[in-house]
Order: sequence, then C-alpha cells, then structure tokens
Amino acid sequence: MNAPQRVRVQHLQAAKDRGERLVMLTAYDAVTARIFDEAGVDLLLVGDSIGNTMHGYTSTLPVTLDEMVVAGRAVAGAAHRAFVVVDLPFGTYEAGPEQALATGVRVLKETGAAAVKLEGGRRVAAQIRALTDAGIPVVAHLGYTPQSENLLGGPRVQGRGDDGADRLREDAVAVVDAGAVAVVLEMVPSPVAASVTSMLRVPTIGIGAGAGCDGQVLVWVDMAGMTDWTPRFAKRYGELGSALGAAARAFADDVRAGAFPDAEHEFGA
Ligand code: KIV
Repeated sequence: MNAPQRVRVQHLQAAKDRGERLVMLTAYDAVTARIFDEAGVDLLLVGDSIGNTMHGYTSTLPVTLDEMVVAGRAVAGAAHRAFVVVDLPFGTYEAGPEQALATGVRVLKETGAAAVKLEGGRRVAAQIRALTDAGIPVVAHLGYTPQSENLLGGPRVQGRGDDGADRLREDAVAVVDAGAVAVVLEMVPSPVAASVTSMLRVPTIGIGAGAGCDGQVLVWVDMAGMTDWTPRFAKRYGELGSALGAAARAFADDVRAGAFPDAEHEFGA
C-alpha cells in the first residue's frame, strides 16, 4: 500500500480503489509488532490464534478477553504505522449487540487498537452495526471461522457448491451493509473469494482464499517457519524455528564450555 504515516480506515478503502494489495500479519507481542510494523506490514492482527500459537491451547475457544487485551496493548503500543485489529474472542459478542459493544469498547479503550474483528455473517450483523454506530471499525471474518470449529467439523473449506457460495455471498453483503470495513475470507475456494471481492466495495483479505482477494493475511509463526507443520495455504518465508534452536544450542554450548560470558560481556571492578 502507498505508505501513509499511519494506516487508517480510509486507506484500506483507498488501497482497494487503487488496486493496491493489503498486507496483514498476526502479532501477539511488542517485539514482533515492531519488526512487522517497520517491515511495512499494513495491518497487524492480534488474532485469537494466540491461543494455538503462543499459549499452547488446542483451539482458539479458551482464549479470554483479558488475554486479548494484554496482547492488543503490547501490539498497538509498538506499532507506529500499521492498522491494528484485535480479535473479539469466543463468547464475548455472540449474545447480542450490547455484549459486542461492551467488549469492543473495552478493547479499544484498553489497547489503543484501531479496530476489532469478529467471526460470522448474517448472525452477527446486528453486532457489527452496534459497534460501527459507536465509532468502532469492524473487520468481519467469513469462510472457515475457527471459533465455530465444533459446528463446522474442523478446518474445512467453506463456500463450496452453488449453495455454499450463495450463502457466503449473502453473508458478505450482510456484514458490509452492517458497516464492516474489511472482510477476512478464510479457506474459501479461490473463484468464490474472487467473486465476493469484486462484489464488495470494501477490501477482502484472504487466508487460503486465493490471489483474487484485495489483500493477504498469514499467521506469523507459519509465515516465518517457527513450527514443524504449516497449513497447505501458508507459505514459509523463513526458517526461524531452526534458527532459534541453533542460537539456543550455541548459547548452551558456550555456557557449558565456560566460553560465555567472556571479557566483552562482563563488568570489571
Ligand atoms: O486469529 C487469527 O489469526 C485469524 C487469522 C487466521 C485471520 O483470525
């Protein structure tokens, strides 16, 4: 994206209008947020994938609002340019617009983030409307929605077949009509994602949804090669997991050999 000082909601729309692709990565702490921000990543997502990636949970479902607030504050505090979006975790918005509004207000007040993201289509349109009316930008999340993994039967492509594609398009229209400023499309057939993208006035950001989206998001540990296993739709742009292991082994070898600390790394009398 053409680099403004700080990415704001109007720049997302302008990027789509100009045909410039948006770049989004997850971040869960200040260290990575600063690195990604300085690398020119346009949007930082404090995803509830923090549960699987950082906290060792087996799904996003146990992630709490307190956990999201702590991570959101760290990321928003470290990012000077990127548009920071915080996920509303499972159980903090589904009950209705009032619950969603209370959660969204807390997230923006306590983190300094610019927007929130929530999962679902028509079923959460009223929540998106309430948040938007209160001045809180909302990114919607359609296709495979991990918070519904028990209902969806695990990570499975969504929007297949004429009915599936029609449902996805109807959900996309509903969330945008309710005020969503962007739509994440996860694990959606590429032609369906491309047709949703051309239909919507707001940008789509794909993950496992093909190149026809207005932008792409990856979970940073997948992108950087921090884990043994990478989802089929993610590309490893580094091998940070092995690099980190090698650094830890070198440190251990030095300590055991009495080679660290050396004169350069100690204080004299
Ligand atoms: O929580 C997350 O990381 C997400 C991305 C997969 C889009 O929602």
